[in-house]
Amino acid sequence: MYDTVIRNGLVVTHDSTIEADIAIKNGKILSIGARGSLKEGKTELNATGKVIMPGLIDPHVHIKHPFKDTFSQDDFYTATIAAARGGTTTVIDFAIQWDKKLNLAETVALRKKQADGQVVIDYALHVCPTKSSMDTAKELPKIVELGIPSFKLYMIYRKQGRMTDDGIIFRALEEVKNDGIVGVHAENSAIAEFSEEDYLNRGLSSPAAFPMVKPNIVEAEAINRVLYLNKCAQGNLYIFHLSTAEGLEMVAEARGKGQSVTAETCTHYLVLTEDYYKRSDGANFICSPPLRSYDDVDALWKGVANGTIDVIGSDHCGFGKEQKALGNGDFSKTPNGLPGIELRLPVIYTEGVLKKRISINRMVEALSTNPAKIFGLYPKKGAILPGSDADLAIVDLNEEREIITSNLSGSVDWSPYEGMHLRGFAETVISRGEIIVNNGVFKGKRGRGKFLERKL
Ligand code: URP
Ligand code: ZN
Repeated sequence: MYDTVIRNGLVVTHDSTIEADIAIKNGKILSIGARGSLKEGKTELNATGKVIMPGLIDPHVHIKHPFKDTFSQDDFYTATIAAARGGTTTVIDFAIQWDKKLNLAETVALRKKQADGQVVIDYALHVCPTKSSMDTAKELPKIVELGIPSFKLYMIYRKQGRMTDDGIIFRALEEVKNDGIVGVHAENSAIAEFSEEDYLNRGLSSPAAFPMVKPNIVEAEAINRVLYLNKCAQGNLYIFHLSTAEGLEMVAEARGKGQSVTAETCTHYLVLTEDYYKRSDGANFICSPPLRSYDDVDALWKGVANGTIDVIGSDHCGFGKEQKALGNGDFSKTPNGLPGIELRLPVIYTEGVLKKRISINRMVEALSTNPAKIFGLYPKKGAILPGSDADLAIVDLNEEREIITSNLSGSVDWSPYEGMHLRGFAETVISRGEIIVNNGVFKGKRGRGKFLERKL
């Protein structure tokens, strides 16, 4: 007898849409069969009228992220509940070396201690070095051996002590090119700092000035530079949170010439624009890179549709309203980041699939299958195949809801998507065979999630 059988659903993966039933045993998908062909399960789920997707993977979340003298609000428990309710069954967070006395392995151990016993879904980590030293470069292959083959290097935030210089980026690309991937936060620190000083000196410190302080060139120059470094190193590069048409074009060109480069954009760059900074709550929308123009938004959707953009992450980094107000309206003192871990699916379904910008299969690819493939989780995660983990989202595509922050999980007291009318909400979410969200209600246990060792 199977543990669970899901019947009568429409199974949507990155490359197919089929009417099928799914049988689960011991936390794995055991078989996928024609409707009515599978024998009984101890638990029977009826997915009539619903779509079944591989559980989503969010490869870019910042949980309790330290920034500008504060920490983003939600912890591993609340953030992963919010993820689960949004249909996400795996998150990749960051082990950031913000205590520079710790080496990378110690940084990882500390981060795992914070997450283990708290997370309600499976998680992995990218390592984020902040020291441009030879010791750091030498440690990278050891981190890959620990089952963490992906990194994020900041090309910006020099003043905050986060930036890594071109020397270590180039070295990292060389060091891990065969069994790892180097991700970058691509913004030119010098141009951004110079411009920030200039704006502040002229008394232009309001959020409305923020997108002009970091115009497209800030990102585009950094992408251009890191692509050249990657070309010379013959490395494996990932661009986190790409936001500009210029950057997109450069990635497409580099890939066309044979470079190993993949790109992510984020939910907010696909639906929000720089106009938000002119609103009275504009400070809430301060994030890096900034929200961009309508032309950039259009270009990014085309990039998702044609495959230049592989992944849509959330870059969830949830500072509450009080924290956003710490800057007193000065963009340079406002912590950067937007909450978004719970609404990636309905936002992308509504704005992408319903508006015919992308197919539903392409959406599944960008939200689940590609992150799994790029970061060494496939086909354990990101797939509906016999032998894959039974991580599944059963989604109601028809019900429309207005986004009201008080109906969301997590601990952040506002949402960038407040007031939007969205469709595509996960109704039932299954993680390693266990129903952790039932009828939209979280049912899982604190700490049931596991750390995922990865190998590229
Ligand atoms: O504004 C953002 N993206 N905050 C998260 C940290 C970072 O800059 O990547
Ligand atoms: Zn970043």
